[in-house]
Amino acid sequence: MSQLESVVVLPDDERPTKWYNIQADLPEPLPPPMDPKEGPSRIKALPDLLVGECLRQENSTERWIAIPDDVQDLYRQAGRPRPLIRARRLEKRLGTPARLYYKTEFYSPTGSHKVNTALAQAWYAKREGYERLATETGAGQWGTALAYAASLVGLRTTIYWVRAVYDWKVQRRYFMRMYGAEVHASPSAETSVGRALLEKQPGHPGSLGIAVSEGLEDARRDEKAIYCLGSVLNHVLLHQTVIGLETKRQFEVLGEYPDILVSCLGGGSNFGGFTLPFLADAIHGKELRFIAAQSLAAPNLQGEYRYDFADHAEITPMLKMYTLGHKTEMRPIRGDGLRYHGCSPILSLLRHLGYIDTVAYPEDEKYVFERARLFVQAEGFLPAPESAYSIACAIDEALKCKETGEAKVIAFNISGHGFMDMEGYAQVLGL
Ligand SMILES: Cc1ncc(COP(=O)(O)O)c(C=O)c1O
Repeated sequence: MSQLESVVVLPDDERPTKWYNIQADLPEPLPPPMDPKEGPSRIKALPDLLVGECLRQENSTERWIAIPDDVQDLYRQAGRPRPLIRARRLEKRLGTPARLYYKTEFYSPTGSHKVNTALAQAWYAKREGYERLATETGAGQWGTALAYAASLVGLRTTIYWVRAVYDWKVQRRYFMRMYGAEVHASPSAETSVGRALLEKQPGHPGSLGIAVSEGLEDARRDEKAIYCLGSVLNHVLLHQTVIGLETKRQFEVLGEYPDILVSCLGGGSNFGGFTLPFLADAIHGKELRFIAAQSLAAPNLQGEYRYDFADHAEITPMLKMYTLGHKTEMRPIRGDGLRYHGCSPILSLLRHLGYIDTVAYPEDEKYVFERARLFVQAEGFLPAPESAYSIACAIDEALKCKETGEAKVIAFNISGHGFMDMEGYAQVLGL
């Protein structure tokens, strides 16, 4: 790579045509979902809760799963493969010997990596005869991605959006409605879960766990509707592996290999998508560090590794994961997509086995957003507030290299853009 070449763009014929399923390579089998001791079986109810093909993928141990041709076409239209960029200007400003590379998931029609699974889930749902999708959203990125995907394949969408974010991201609300989505602030009066919470606390700020419960309740009462989840589950991480597969190929083209991979983590979909193809190498003995960047508002990877529900109202089966507790109240933040009580079971197992480190940043977000400002001024791209956590962590690691003089290769994923989040930056940074 010459001094001037900073952008690796893969030709279309090097686009991944299969998703990578790490379940084939895990050092030990993934603990299966479990039913609670009391109440109806949540596991038996799963076929009514999830798209059939997604449920099949959830339990699959096949290493490679073919991406349907139509979904590949949709990926192409959504701008895949996406470039990997060397952050030369940022490196210079930091004065670090480290080489920093960022994956550009912000080059997305709706603003984030969430389209990678939204397109797959919507396409399978349409093929299975559903007419409407119901879902949760935190940052609003997942809701927009699903509204977009549903619109492209010809389905309707209903979105339960964590109220603390719904209230300030007005432009994104309009964006979802442009795609034809019905959008409710969560908790809402549309569901019994929502009504019960509103009765106790009118204007309740909501949480992802509550919004998941509302979406599930909504989909369950309409046989033409099905629920789609934007993170946590195995099939969601599977679809997201296109990010890491492309990145791996891009490093091959460069003749480089990362020493450290960094990304932000809420439920784990972008972190998993970016790192799983590399985690496979770590499992096979390669020395490699993975760091998940989180908020102290929801440092789920510092919670307990145990069985817990994925939603507030206990509609889902229990998953073995790092969790802060599904009823725990967590203060809203600007990067609210990171405010979720649990981490994906796959990533939780890998953390439990010692493969994944974590760092959690202060809730006032000043530190993280200052680092995002440095990135914006050096590289020009505006990250989503959640992605600012990836940047903060990558910069921290680059500055450690400055102290030690090590020329490490640091790769980080910028999971989304912040074009609709300026209000959040303005309030924290006083713009
Ligand atoms: C841009 C962006 N990045 C990251 C996340 C965190 O979610 P996950 O851990 O599933 O990637 C979100 C969640 O909404 C998001 O919108």
